[in-house]
Amino acid sequence: MKKIVFSTGAGVSAESGITTFRDAGGLWEQYPVMQVASAQGFAADPELVHRFYNMRRHDLMAAKPNEAHLLIADLQKDFDVSVITQNVDDLHERAGSRDVLHLHGELMKLRSITHPDYTETLTPGNLESSPATRGRNGDPMRPHIVFFGEAVPNIEPAMRLAAEADVFVVIGTSLNVYPAAGLMECVRPGTPIYYIDPCPARTPPLPDLHVMPMKATEGMRLLAAQLRSEA
Ligand code: OAD
Repeated sequence: MKKIVFSTGAGVSAESGITTFRDAGGLWEQYPVMQVASAQGFAADPELVHRFYNMRRHDLMAAKPNEAHLLIADLQKDFDVSVITQNVDDLHERAGSRDVLHLHGELMKLRSITHPDYTETLTPGNLESSPATRGRNGDPMRPHIVFFGEAVPNIEPAMRLAAEADVFVVIGTSLNVYPAAGLMECVRPGTPIYYIDPCPARTPPLPDLHVMPMKATEGMRLLAAQLRSEA
């Protein structure tokens, strides 16, 4: 079965009402990124960082997967589909995608400060954390987010997935944040790459790259039909 690997960024969730980071009015225009999303910021003011992600969780509860998330999940009927995402929301999972690799963490999880592999999942009725939050094992907990200044532990499996792709599809990312932005350069030569984004970033000169300058839902409608017609 043909393997399609998606690499998604904030733009795939924009039509679900989740604010992107670097667009006009984006999150990093409203909040100082180094205060709320860096290792130094968390060390300096953990209370502020917990509050920031508490707000993000409430926004996420109000959001639903959009047609792009749903079309990606629906392709699982005909293809071997993997999703690599920079997003910390759970909209791919809620749309039904079974194989989702989060590069920058997961909003609905907390992780132990002292045992980084230990995580707990929050529930809709219990969305908030603070510096006083302890895990069931007694550990101090923090948002399960990869802060700027920290390593990206899932990048190696992501690079392997990219290298296994028969088709690689990038959606809704400004290609600003590495190592995620480099994934399209990990595909095998000759693999078609599609990049769906209404305001595409500058891309490396890859011969098999097709830029689709449109929103995620519109691009996915076209691409899903094309992939099925070629199958
Ligand atoms: P950005 O906010 O940098 O970029 C969002 C991209 O989505 C832009 O290229 C937009 O043109 C595009 N976009 C907007 N609306 C869209 C739509 N309806 N359909 C498709 N695309 C649309 O977000 P990312 O590139 O995902 O990391 O940001 C990468 C990382 O930077 C995030 O994971 C986050 C942030 O700092 C952490 O917090 C660790």
